[in-house]
Amino acid sequence: MRIVDLIAKKRDGKELTTEEIEFFIQGYTTGSIPDYQASAMMMAIYFQDMNDRERADLTMAMVNSGETIDLSAIDGIKVDKHSTGGVGDTTTLVLAPLVAAVGVPVAKMSGRGLGHTGGTLDKLESIKGFHIEISKEQFVDLVNRHKVAVIGQSGNLTPADKKMYALRDVTGTVNSIALIASSIMSKKIAAGSDAIVLDVKTGAGAFMKTDEDALELAKAMVRIGNNVGRHTMAVISDMSQPLGFAIGNALEVQEAIDTLRGQGPADLTELTLVLGSQMVVLAKKAKTLEEARQMLLDAISSGKALEKFREFLTNQGGDASIVDSPEKLPQAKFKIEVPAKTSGVVSNMIADEIGVAAMLLGAGRATKEDEIDLAVGLMLRKKVGDRVNAGDSLVTIYANREDVASVMDKLYASIEISNSGQAPKLIHTVITQ
Ligand code: URA
Ligand code: CA
Repeated sequence: MRIVDLIAKKRDGKELTTEEIEFFIQGYTTGSIPDYQASAMMMAIYFQDMNDRERADLTMAMVNSGETIDLSAIDGIKVDKHSTGGVGDTTTLVLAPLVAAVGVPVAKMSGRGLGHTGGTLDKLESIKGFHIEISKEQFVDLVNRHKVAVIGQSGNLTPADKKMYALRDVTGTVNSIALIASSIMSKKIAAGSDAIVLDVKTGAGAFMKTDEDALELAKAMVRIGNNVGRHTMAVISDMSQPLGFAIGNALEVQEAIDTLRGQGPADLTELTLVLGSQMVVLAKKAKTLEEARQMLLDAISSGKALEKFREFLTNQGGDASIVDSPEKLPQAKFKIEVPAKTSGVVSNMIADEIGVAAMLLGAGRATKEDEIDLAVGLMLRKKVGDRVNAGDSLVTIYANREDVASVMDKLYASIEISNSGQAPKLIHTVITQ
Protein backbone atom coordinates (compact mmCIF):
# COMPACT_ATOMS: atom_id res chain seq x y z
CA MET A 1 0.00 0.00 0.00
CA ARG A 2 1.23 3.50 -0.80
CA ILE A 3 -0.18 6.52 1.00
CA VAL A 4 -0.01 8.64 -2.16
CA ASP A 5 -2.49 6.27 -3.84
CA LEU A 6 -4.85 6.49 -0.88
CA ILE A 7 -4.70 10.29 -0.92
CA ALA A 8 -5.57 10.29 -4.65
CA LYS A 9 -8.37 7.79 -4.03
CA LYS A 10 -9.98 9.99 -1.39
CA ARG A 11 -9.33 13.12 -3.46
CA ASP A 12 -11.38 11.53 -6.24
CA GLY A 13 -14.27 10.89 -3.87
CA LYS A 14 -13.85 7.16 -3.44
CA GLU A 15 -14.39 5.16 -0.29
CA LEU A 16 -11.36 4.00 1.72
CA THR A 17 -11.38 0.44 3.04
CA THR A 18 -10.91 -0.48 6.70
CA GLU A 19 -7.34 -1.62 5.98
CA GLU A 20 -6.50 1.57 4.10
CA ILE A 21 -7.73 3.74 6.97
CA GLU A 22 -5.73 1.67 9.46
CA PHE A 23 -2.65 1.97 7.25
CA PHE A 24 -2.98 5.77 7.19
CA ILE A 25 -3.52 6.16 10.95
CA GLN A 26 -0.82 3.66 11.92
CA GLY A 27 1.67 5.22 9.52
CA TYR A 28 0.95 8.75 10.66
CA THR A 29 1.14 7.86 14.37
CA THR A 30 4.45 6.04 14.04
CA GLY A 31 5.96 8.68 11.77
CA SER A 32 6.36 6.66 8.55
CA ILE A 33 3.80 8.97 6.93
CA PRO A 34 4.98 12.61 7.09
CA ASP A 35 2.89 15.67 7.97
CA TYR A 36 2.61 16.82 4.34
CA GLN A 37 0.94 13.62 3.23
CA ALA A 38 -1.28 13.51 6.29
CA SER A 39 -2.29 17.14 5.56
CA ALA A 40 -3.20 16.24 2.00
CA MET A 41 -5.28 13.30 3.23
CA MET A 42 -7.07 15.46 5.79
CA MET A 43 -7.85 18.05 3.11
CA ALA A 44 -9.17 15.28 0.82
CA ILE A 45 -11.41 14.07 3.67
CA TYR A 46 -12.47 17.64 4.34
CA PHE A 47 -13.75 18.05 0.76
CA GLN A 48 -14.91 14.51 -0.04
CA ASP A 49 -16.16 13.53 3.43
CA MET A 50 -16.49 9.97 4.71
CA ASN A 51 -19.47 7.67 4.97
CA ASP A 52 -20.60 6.16 8.29
CA ARG A 53 -18.52 3.02 7.82
CA GLU A 54 -15.34 5.01 7.10
CA ARG A 55 -16.01 7.31 10.08
CA ALA A 56 -16.39 4.32 12.42
CA ASP A 57 -13.20 2.77 11.02
CA LEU A 58 -11.30 6.04 11.38
CA THR A 59 -12.48 6.32 14.99
CA MET A 60 -11.40 2.78 15.87
CA ALA A 61 -8.05 3.21 14.11
CA MET A 62 -7.46 6.27 16.31
CA VAL A 63 -8.58 4.35 19.43
CA ASN A 64 -6.12 1.57 18.57
CA SER A 65 -3.25 4.00 17.99
CA GLY A 66 -2.57 4.06 21.75
CA GLU A 67 -3.53 2.87 25.18
CA THR A 68 -7.16 2.14 26.06
CA ILE A 69 -8.73 1.99 29.50
CA ASP A 70 -10.21 -1.33 30.56
CA LEU A 71 -13.12 -0.77 32.93
CA SER A 72 -14.38 -4.34 32.81
CA ALA A 73 -13.38 -4.86 36.46
CA ILE A 74 -16.09 -2.37 37.42
CA ASP A 75 -19.52 -3.89 38.02
CA GLY A 76 -22.47 -2.61 36.04
CA ILE A 77 -22.90 -0.55 32.90
CA LYS A 78 -20.44 2.34 32.95
CA VAL A 79 -21.87 5.49 31.43
CA ASP A 80 -19.79 8.50 30.47
CA LYS A 81 -21.00 12.01 29.73
CA HIS A 82 -19.18 14.28 27.33
CA SER A 83 -19.80 17.93 26.66
CA THR A 84 -18.45 19.57 23.53
CA GLY A 85 -17.51 22.48 25.78
CA GLY A 86 -19.16 25.63 26.96
CA VAL A 87 -18.93 28.61 29.29
CA GLY A 88 -19.73 28.06 32.96
CA ASP A 89 -20.69 24.46 32.19
CA THR A 90 -20.84 23.06 35.70
CA THR A 91 -22.82 19.90 34.79
CA THR A 92 -20.11 17.25 35.32
CA LEU A 93 -19.54 18.37 38.91
CA VAL A 94 -23.26 17.92 39.60
CA LEU A 95 -23.92 14.88 37.43
CA ALA A 96 -21.13 12.62 38.62
CA PRO A 97 -22.22 12.44 42.28
CA LEU A 98 -25.91 12.72 41.38
CA VAL A 99 -26.11 9.66 39.12
CA ALA A 100 -23.66 7.78 41.37
CA ALA A 101 -26.11 8.37 44.22
CA VAL A 102 -28.72 6.33 42.33
CA GLY A 103 -26.27 3.52 41.58
CA VAL A 104 -24.83 4.40 38.17
CA PRO A 105 -21.06 3.73 38.09
CA VAL A 106 -19.19 6.86 36.97
CA ALA A 107 -15.57 6.28 35.98
CA LYS A 108 -14.63 9.73 34.79
CA MET A 109 -11.51 10.80 33.02
CA SER A 110 -11.20 14.55 33.04
CA GLY A 111 -9.13 17.29 31.53
CA ARG A 112 -8.16 20.92 31.98
CA GLY A 113 -9.75 23.89 30.32
CA LEU A 114 -8.39 25.96 27.47
CA GLY A 115 -9.59 29.27 26.03
CA HIS A 116 -13.07 30.41 27.01
CA THR A 117 -14.20 27.00 28.29
CA GLY A 118 -13.33 25.55 31.70
CA GLY A 119 -12.16 22.06 32.63
CA THR A 120 -13.64 19.88 35.36
CA LEU A 121 -10.17 19.07 36.66
CA ASP A 122 -9.37 22.72 37.32
CA LYS A 123 -12.66 23.17 39.13
CA LEU A 124 -12.04 20.17 41.38
CA GLU A 125 -8.57 21.44 42.21
CA SER A 126 -10.12 24.43 43.96
CA ILE A 127 -10.99 21.94 46.72
CA LYS A 128 -8.08 21.67 49.15
CA GLY A 129 -6.33 18.30 49.02
CA PHE A 130 -8.36 16.87 46.16
CA HIS A 131 -6.17 14.97 43.73
CA ILE A 132 -6.70 13.04 40.53
CA GLU A 133 -3.30 11.37 40.45
CA ILE A 134 -4.59 7.96 41.46
CA SER A 135 -3.51 4.60 40.06
CA LYS A 136 -5.77 2.71 37.68
CA GLU A 137 -6.26 0.07 40.38
CA GLN A 138 -7.38 2.68 42.91
CA PHE A 139 -9.66 4.23 40.31
CA VAL A 140 -11.41 0.91 39.60
CA ASP A 141 -11.64 0.11 43.29
CA LEU A 142 -13.17 3.50 44.14
CA VAL A 143 -15.82 3.18 41.44
CA ASN A 144 -16.67 -0.34 42.57
CA ARG A 145 -17.04 0.71 46.20
CA HIS A 146 -18.41 4.25 45.86
CA LYS A 147 -19.74 4.45 42.27
CA VAL A 148 -17.72 7.55 41.41
CA ALA A 149 -14.11 8.57 40.87
CA VAL A 150 -12.23 11.00 38.63
CA ILE A 151 -8.82 10.38 37.14
CA GLY A 152 -6.61 12.71 35.08
CA GLN A 153 -6.31 12.18 31.35
CA SER A 154 -3.72 9.53 30.53
CA GLY A 155 -0.96 10.78 28.26
CA ASN A 156 -1.09 7.74 26.01
CA LEU A 157 -4.72 7.82 24.96
CA THR A 158 -5.32 8.28 21.18
CA PRO A 159 -1.91 9.63 20.13
CA ALA A 160 -3.18 9.70 16.53
CA ASP A 161 -5.82 12.22 17.54
CA LYS A 162 -3.27 14.47 19.26
CA LYS A 163 -1.10 14.56 16.15
CA MET A 164 -4.00 14.98 13.75
CA TYR A 165 -5.70 17.71 15.77
CA ALA A 166 -2.47 19.73 15.93
CA LEU A 167 -2.01 19.33 12.18
CA ARG A 168 -5.63 20.18 11.37
CA ASP A 169 -5.29 23.32 13.44
CA VAL A 170 -2.62 24.69 11.07
CA THR A 171 -3.94 23.30 7.76
CA GLY A 172 -7.51 24.63 7.73
CA THR A 173 -9.05 21.21 8.25
CA VAL A 174 -10.59 21.49 11.71
CA ASN A 175 -14.15 22.02 10.52
CA SER A 176 -14.91 18.65 9.00
CA ILE A 177 -17.74 16.72 10.66
CA ALA A 178 -16.05 13.39 9.88
CA LEU A 179 -12.80 14.54 11.50
CA ILE A 180 -14.39 16.26 14.51
CA ALA A 181 -16.78 13.39 15.26
CA SER A 182 -14.07 10.73 15.03
CA SER A 183 -11.68 12.85 17.10
CA ILE A 184 -14.15 13.28 19.96
CA MET A 185 -15.50 9.73 19.83
CA SER A 186 -12.05 8.12 19.72
CA LYS A 187 -11.18 9.73 23.06
CA LYS A 188 -14.49 8.68 24.63
CA ILE A 189 -14.20 5.11 23.38
CA ALA A 190 -10.58 4.78 24.50
CA ALA A 191 -11.68 5.92 27.97
CA GLY A 192 -13.58 2.67 28.29
CA SER A 193 -17.21 3.34 29.22
CA ASP A 194 -19.97 1.07 27.88
CA ALA A 195 -22.38 3.86 27.07
CA ILE A 196 -21.97 7.55 26.26
CA VAL A 197 -24.26 10.54 26.70
CA LEU A 198 -23.16 13.49 24.58
CA ASP A 199 -24.06 17.07 25.40
CA VAL A 200 -23.59 18.89 22.12
CA LYS A 201 -23.71 22.63 22.72
CA THR A 202 -25.02 25.10 20.22
CA GLY A 203 -24.70 28.90 20.10
CA ALA A 204 -22.09 31.63 20.54
CA GLY A 205 -20.21 29.89 23.36
CA ALA A 206 -20.08 26.53 21.59
CA PHE A 207 -17.78 24.90 19.10
CA MET A 208 -20.81 24.55 16.81
CA LYS A 209 -22.40 27.97 16.45
CA THR A 210 -25.59 26.93 14.66
CA ASP A 211 -28.28 24.38 15.37
CA GLU A 212 -27.77 22.83 11.97
CA ASP A 213 -24.06 22.14 12.56
CA ALA A 214 -24.67 20.92 16.11
CA LEU A 215 -27.32 18.50 14.84
CA GLU A 216 -25.06 17.15 12.12
CA LEU A 217 -22.19 16.63 14.58
CA ALA A 218 -24.46 15.01 17.16
CA LYS A 219 -25.90 12.58 14.63
CA ALA A 220 -22.45 11.71 13.33
CA MET A 221 -21.15 10.95 16.83
CA VAL A 222 -24.22 8.94 17.83
CA ARG A 223 -23.87 6.81 14.69
CA ILE A 224 -20.15 6.23 15.28
CA GLY A 225 -20.75 5.18 18.90
CA ASN A 226 -23.57 2.79 18.06
CA ASN A 227 -21.70 1.39 15.04
CA VAL A 228 -18.72 0.44 17.19
CA GLY A 229 -20.83 -1.13 19.93
CA ARG A 230 -21.12 1.67 22.46
CA HIS A 231 -24.66 2.70 23.24
CA THR A 232 -24.58 6.44 22.48
CA MET A 233 -27.12 9.23 22.53
CA ALA A 234 -26.92 13.02 22.34
CA VAL A 235 -28.69 16.05 23.72
CA ILE A 236 -28.31 19.35 21.90
CA SER A 237 -28.38 22.16 24.44
CA ASP A 238 -28.17 25.93 24.41
CA MET A 239 -24.83 27.68 24.78
CA SER A 240 -25.81 31.07 23.45
CA GLN A 241 -25.52 32.36 27.02
CA PRO A 242 -23.41 30.81 29.81
CA LEU A 243 -24.93 27.94 31.79
CA GLY A 244 -26.02 28.77 35.33
CA PHE A 245 -24.71 31.92 37.02
CA ALA A 246 -21.16 31.01 38.00
CA ILE A 247 -18.16 31.11 35.64
CA GLY A 248 -14.86 30.34 37.34
CA ASN A 249 -13.46 27.42 39.24
CA ALA A 250 -14.28 27.83 42.94
CA LEU A 251 -17.46 29.71 42.04
CA GLU A 252 -18.63 26.75 39.97
CA VAL A 253 -17.87 24.31 42.77
CA GLN A 254 -20.14 26.41 44.97
CA GLU A 255 -22.78 26.40 42.24
CA ALA A 256 -22.55 22.62 41.94
CA ILE A 257 -23.08 22.26 45.71
CA ASP A 258 -26.13 24.55 45.55
CA THR A 259 -27.51 22.47 42.69
CA LEU A 260 -26.94 19.17 44.52
CA ARG A 261 -28.88 20.77 47.38
CA GLY A 262 -31.77 21.56 45.05
CA GLN A 263 -31.03 25.28 45.14
CA GLY A 264 -29.14 25.69 41.88
CA PRO A 265 -29.91 27.80 38.81
CA ALA A 266 -32.92 26.57 36.82
CA ASP A 267 -31.05 25.93 33.55
CA LEU A 268 -28.16 24.03 35.15
CA THR A 269 -30.61 21.98 37.22
CA GLU A 270 -32.74 21.12 34.20
CA LEU A 271 -29.81 20.18 31.96
CA THR A 272 -28.40 18.00 34.74
CA LEU A 273 -31.73 16.20 35.11
CA VAL A 274 -32.09 15.68 31.35
CA LEU A 275 -28.56 14.32 30.89
CA GLY A 276 -28.71 12.39 34.15
CA SER A 277 -32.00 10.69 33.25
CA GLN A 278 -30.46 9.49 30.00
CA MET A 279 -27.44 8.14 31.89
CA VAL A 280 -29.65 6.30 34.40
CA VAL A 281 -31.67 4.68 31.60
CA LEU A 282 -28.53 3.72 29.62
CA ALA A 283 -27.13 2.14 32.80
CA LYS A 284 -30.40 0.19 33.07
CA LYS A 285 -31.14 1.56 36.55
CA ALA A 286 -34.56 2.77 35.36
CA LYS A 287 -36.88 1.73 32.56
CA THR A 288 -38.13 5.15 31.55
CA LEU A 289 -36.79 8.68 31.54
CA GLU A 290 -39.63 9.74 33.86
CA GLU A 291 -38.70 7.09 36.41
CA ALA A 292 -35.03 8.07 36.13
CA ARG A 293 -35.81 11.75 36.63
CA GLN A 294 -37.83 10.98 39.75
CA MET A 295 -34.95 8.93 41.16
CA LEU A 296 -32.60 11.88 40.63
CA LEU A 297 -35.04 14.37 42.17
CA ASP A 298 -35.38 12.06 45.20
CA ALA A 299 -31.60 11.82 45.53
CA ILE A 300 -31.43 15.62 45.63
CA SER A 301 -34.29 16.13 48.10
CA SER A 302 -33.17 13.34 50.45
CA GLY A 303 -29.63 14.75 50.62
CA LYS A 304 -28.16 11.55 49.15
CA ALA A 305 -26.67 13.37 46.17
CA LEU A 306 -24.86 15.88 48.36
CA GLU A 307 -23.70 13.08 50.67
CA LYS A 308 -22.26 11.28 47.62
CA PHE A 309 -20.38 14.46 46.70
CA ARG A 310 -18.82 14.61 50.20
CA GLU A 311 -17.88 10.94 49.94
CA PHE A 312 -16.33 11.48 46.51
CA LEU A 313 -14.22 14.41 47.76
CA THR A 314 -13.04 12.54 50.86
CA ASN A 315 -12.10 9.45 48.81
CA GLN A 316 -9.73 11.51 46.71
CA GLY A 317 -8.17 13.48 49.57
CA GLY A 318 -10.43 16.53 49.26
CA ASP A 319 -11.70 18.61 52.16
CA ALA A 320 -15.43 17.78 52.25
CA SER A 321 -16.10 20.43 54.89
CA ILE A 322 -16.23 22.98 52.05
CA VAL A 323 -19.75 21.68 51.36
CA ASP A 324 -21.04 23.30 54.55
CA SER A 325 -18.35 25.96 54.87
CA PRO A 326 -17.95 27.43 51.38
CA GLU A 327 -15.76 30.20 52.79
CA LYS A 328 -13.01 27.55 52.82
CA LEU A 329 -12.95 27.62 49.01
CA PRO A 330 -10.44 30.05 47.46
CA GLN A 331 -11.82 33.57 47.86
CA ALA A 332 -11.25 36.56 45.60
CA LYS A 333 -10.09 39.82 47.21
CA PHE A 334 -12.45 42.09 45.32
CA LYS A 335 -16.11 41.86 44.40
CA ILE A 336 -17.03 44.48 41.82
CA GLU A 337 -20.55 45.01 40.51
CA VAL A 338 -21.29 45.80 36.87
CA PRO A 339 -24.36 48.05 36.93
CA ALA A 340 -26.81 48.20 34.00
CA LYS A 341 -26.54 51.49 32.11
CA THR A 342 -30.13 51.38 30.90
CA SER A 343 -33.44 49.79 31.87
CA GLY A 344 -35.12 47.10 29.80
CA VAL A 345 -34.84 43.37 29.25
CA VAL A 346 -31.63 41.40 28.74
CA SER A 347 -31.97 40.32 25.12
CA ASN A 348 -28.59 38.70 24.47
CA MET A 349 -25.49 37.53 26.35
CA ILE A 350 -22.63 36.45 24.10
CA ALA A 351 -21.37 33.35 25.86
CA ASP A 352 -17.89 33.09 24.37
CA GLU A 353 -17.13 36.76 25.00
CA ILE A 354 -18.24 36.39 28.62
CA GLY A 355 -15.99 33.32 28.82
CA VAL A 356 -13.11 35.44 27.55
CA ALA A 357 -13.90 38.09 30.20
CA ALA A 358 -13.56 35.38 32.89
CA MET A 359 -10.33 34.22 31.29
CA LEU A 360 -8.93 37.78 31.38
CA LEU A 361 -9.47 37.75 35.16
CA GLY A 362 -7.36 34.60 35.35
CA ALA A 363 -10.14 32.00 35.60
CA GLY A 364 -9.05 30.33 32.36
CA ARG A 365 -6.02 29.78 30.19
CA ALA A 366 -5.14 31.58 26.96
CA THR A 367 -2.33 29.04 26.38
CA LYS A 368 -1.78 25.57 27.83
CA GLU A 369 1.09 26.83 30.01
CA ASP A 370 -0.92 29.59 31.76
CA GLU A 371 -1.50 29.35 35.50
CA ILE A 372 -5.08 29.91 36.56
CA ASP A 373 -6.48 31.67 39.59
CA LEU A 374 -9.08 29.36 41.16
CA ALA A 375 -10.80 32.10 43.15
CA VAL A 376 -11.68 34.54 40.36
CA GLY A 377 -14.55 34.62 37.91
CA LEU A 378 -17.99 36.02 37.26
CA MET A 379 -21.40 35.63 38.86
CA LEU A 380 -24.18 36.56 36.48
CA ARG A 381 -26.96 38.43 38.26
CA LYS A 382 -29.21 38.54 35.18
CA LYS A 383 -29.79 36.17 32.30
CA VAL A 384 -31.46 36.53 28.94
CA GLY A 385 -35.16 37.37 29.37
CA ASP A 386 -34.67 39.04 32.78
CA ARG A 387 -35.96 42.56 33.38
CA VAL A 388 -33.39 45.13 34.58
CA ASN A 389 -33.48 48.66 35.92
CA ALA A 390 -30.61 51.04 35.27
CA GLY A 391 -28.15 50.61 38.14
CA ASP A 392 -29.05 46.96 38.84
CA SER A 393 -26.04 44.69 38.91
CA LEU A 394 -25.72 42.59 35.74
CA VAL A 395 -22.67 40.67 36.88
CA THR A 396 -20.44 40.53 39.94
CA ILE A 397 -16.75 40.35 39.07
CA TYR A 398 -14.65 38.29 41.51
CA ALA A 399 -11.10 39.52 41.05
CA ASN A 400 -7.73 39.50 42.72
CA ARG A 401 -6.80 42.85 41.22
CA GLU A 402 -8.54 46.18 41.50
CA ASP A 403 -8.26 47.29 37.87
CA VAL A 404 -10.89 45.39 35.94
CA ALA A 405 -11.73 48.08 33.37
CA SER A 406 -10.97 45.85 30.38
CA VAL A 407 -13.10 43.04 31.81
CA MET A 408 -15.95 45.44 32.44
CA ASP A 409 -15.75 46.79 28.88
CA LYS A 410 -15.93 43.27 27.54
CA LEU A 411 -18.96 42.49 29.69
CA TYR A 412 -20.81 45.63 28.59
CA ALA A 413 -20.06 44.73 24.97
CA SER A 414 -21.40 41.19 25.50
CA ILE A 415 -24.64 41.92 27.33
CA GLU A 416 -27.44 43.54 25.33
CA ILE A 417 -30.38 45.27 26.94
CA SER A 418 -33.35 46.20 24.77
CA ASN A 419 -37.14 46.49 24.90
CA SER A 420 -37.82 42.80 24.83
CA GLY A 421 -36.05 39.51 25.16
CA GLN A 422 -36.81 35.90 25.82
CA ALA A 423 -34.92 33.15 27.59
CA PRO A 424 -33.53 30.76 24.94
CA LYS A 425 -34.84 27.23 24.76
CA LEU A 426 -32.45 25.07 26.82
CA ILE A 427 -32.89 21.64 25.26
CA HIS A 428 -33.05 21.77 21.47
CA THR A 429 -33.16 18.09 20.48
CA VAL A 430 -32.51 14.60 21.82
CA ILE A 431 -30.92 12.15 19.37
CA THR A 432 -30.99 8.45 20.05
CA GLN A 433 -30.31 7.02 16.61
N1 URA B 1 -12.78 18.76 19.80
C1 URA B 1 -12.09 17.63 19.59
O1 URA B 1 -11.76 16.92 20.53
N2 URA B 1 -11.73 17.32 18.33
C2 URA B 1 -12.05 18.07 17.28
O2 URA B 1 -11.71 17.71 16.17
C3 URA B 1 -12.78 19.24 17.51
C4 URA B 1 -13.14 19.56 18.79
CA1 CA C 1 -22.11 27.71 35.71
